[in-house]
Parts: sequence; C-alpha cells; structure tokens
Amino acid sequence: MAKGGSSFHMSAVPVTIFAHLLVISIAALTLAWLIKFREGFAFKSQSNKAKIFNLHPLLMILGFVLFSGEAIIMYKAVPAKRRAQKLMHLILHFIALVAGIIGVYAVFKFHSEVGIIHMYTLHSWIGLSTICLFGLQWLLGFFSFWYPRAEPMKRARMLPWHAFFGMVIFFMTIVTAETGLTQKFLFQGLRRSQEALIVNFTGLLILLFGISVGLIVILPRRIV
Ligand code: HEM
Ligand code: HEM
Repeated sequence: MAKGGSSFHMSAVPVTIFAHLLVISIAALTLAWLIKFREGFAFKSQSNKAKIFNLHPLLMILGFVLFSGEAIIMYKAVPAKRRAQKLMHLILHFIALVAGIIGVYAVFKFHSEVGIIHMYTLHSWIGLSTICLFGLQWLLGFFSFWYPRAEPMKRARMLPWHAFFGMVIFFMTIVTAETGLTQKFLFQGLRRSQEALIVNFTGLLILLFGISVGLIVILPRRIV
C-alpha cells in the first residue's frame, strides 16, 4: 500500500511481533471458549447439534481471520525472496479460503438440521459477501500475479488495487467476526459471566489484530 511509509519513523517489525502474539492469544481464547464453555466440535451429531455450529466460529476465527491476516503481513514478517513470499501469501490465503468455505458450510448445515431459516441477519449478509469477494480476489490475484501472470505494465497497474481491495475484504472479515460474536452472545443470552468475558475479549483482540494488520501494511519493513 502506501510505500512512502518511512515518514512514520517506525519499522513494521515490532508490530508484526505484536500481531503474532495476538494470533496466539485469539486462537487460545477461541479454543478455550468452544471447548470449556460450549460443547466442542463435530461434523455430524444426532444428539448435540451445537457441536456442528461450533465448527463455524472455530474455522472462521482460527482459519479465515487469522490465516488471511498472516497471509497479508507475511510480506513484512518473513524476510524471504519475493517469489517465496508470493507463494506463501497465496498458500496462506488459500488455507483461509478453504477454512472459510467449510466454516460457512457448517453453519448452513446446522441451520438446516435444526430447522432455522437462512440468511436473515446482517452478520450473514456481510459474511457471505465477504467469502464471495475473498474467493474472487484470490482467483484474480492468482491469475494476475502467479499463473499465467499479466504483463509487467498491467501487473504494476493492478497491484495498488489488489492491495486496496485486499484490505477492504480483510476488514470485512473483521466486521463479520465481530457481528458473529455479538450474534452468538445474544442468542445464548449471556450476561456478566466468565464466558461473556472470554467472548468479549476475543472480539477485542480480533479488533486489535485488524488494526495491527492495517498498520503493518502501511509501515516499511526497514526505516530508510
Ligand atoms: C469471520 C467470518 C465469518 C463469516 C464469513 C460468517 C458467515 C456466516 C453466514 C454466511 C451465516 C449464515 C448461515 C445461514 O444463514 O444458514 C452465519 C451465521 C452465523 N454465524 Fe457467522 N460467520 C463468520 C464468523 C462468525 C463468528 C466468529 C461467529 C461467533 C460465534 C459467528 C456466529 C454466527 C451465528 C450465531 C450465526 C447464526 C445466526 C445468523 O445467521 O447470523 N460467525 N455466519
Ligand atoms: C483473497 C486473497 C488475497 C488477499 C485478501 C490479498 C491481499 C493483499 C494485500 C492486502 C496486499 C498488500 C500487502 C502489502 O503491501 O504489504 C497484497 C499484496 C500482494 N499480493 Fe495479494 N492478496 C490475495 C491473494 C493473492 C494471490 C492469490 C496472489 C498471487 C500470487 C497475490 C499476490 C500479491 C502480490 C504480488 C502482492 C504485492 C506484494 C508487494 O508489494 O511486494 N495475492 N495482497
């Protein structure tokens, strides 16, 4: 994105370390929440359908949000050759996309099995749009920058738009995760409790992660 980031007088490195710590904390909090306070996970269950639902936050947070954030900051966090960085960027985004698709499938499956209608909340509308845009962005990125690749002039013209829309889509994943957590909070009728604290802190850390990724993208790797 903004390559003239040297005016910040700060390198991206400390923020990438902070972002990695956030990734670990968010993953730990999400797992603790779903295992300790919810019923754990299952792809099929006759007696406890909530286990199918739980796959949704698990895959959306650990897979979709965290992997896509890591994929973006990879250019600043991993000192490797450009081609290797590109390969890691596209693979991490691919893992995020697959996790996202399975996670959305799980919540549709849960809704169908317990007889809840589909797509009636703001969360689900923003969420489905995000997954679709993410898939489109990945395909466009792959064909333009990896294989077969657009010509150099065209690539140079596309890159700022790729970075801009990439950030827009990433922020949409953050918004979707926040609205999803709120949705769940309200459905469970959570009040002030240990579980409520865990859910809210997970949401706060996800917000901080979104802000950190945004900052890393505009900061230079080294101060010049
Ligand atoms: C960040 C990526 C996420 C995406 C793309 C996403 C997408 C979706 C979609 C498309 C639905 C609609 C399913 C249907 O109508 O059958 C849905 C439902 C739901 N999701 Fe998410 N979700 C995400 C994260 C989360 C998180 C982190 C939670 C937290 C628990 C969550 C909680 C829910 C709940 C409670 C529902 C059922 C109610 C509703 O339709 O809003 N989601 N999600
Ligand atoms: C949904 C998937 C994707 C998203 C959200 C995304 C997002 C981004 C973002 C935000 C940046 C800016 C990073 C920065 O300036 O520090 C970026 C850069 C880049 N992306 Fe993607 N990207 C995606 C998929 C792909 C794919 C599949 C490729 C294929 C190789 C690709 C190639 C690139 C390249 C070459 C850069 C420029 C790196 C540089 O400035 O040196 N992206 N991407």
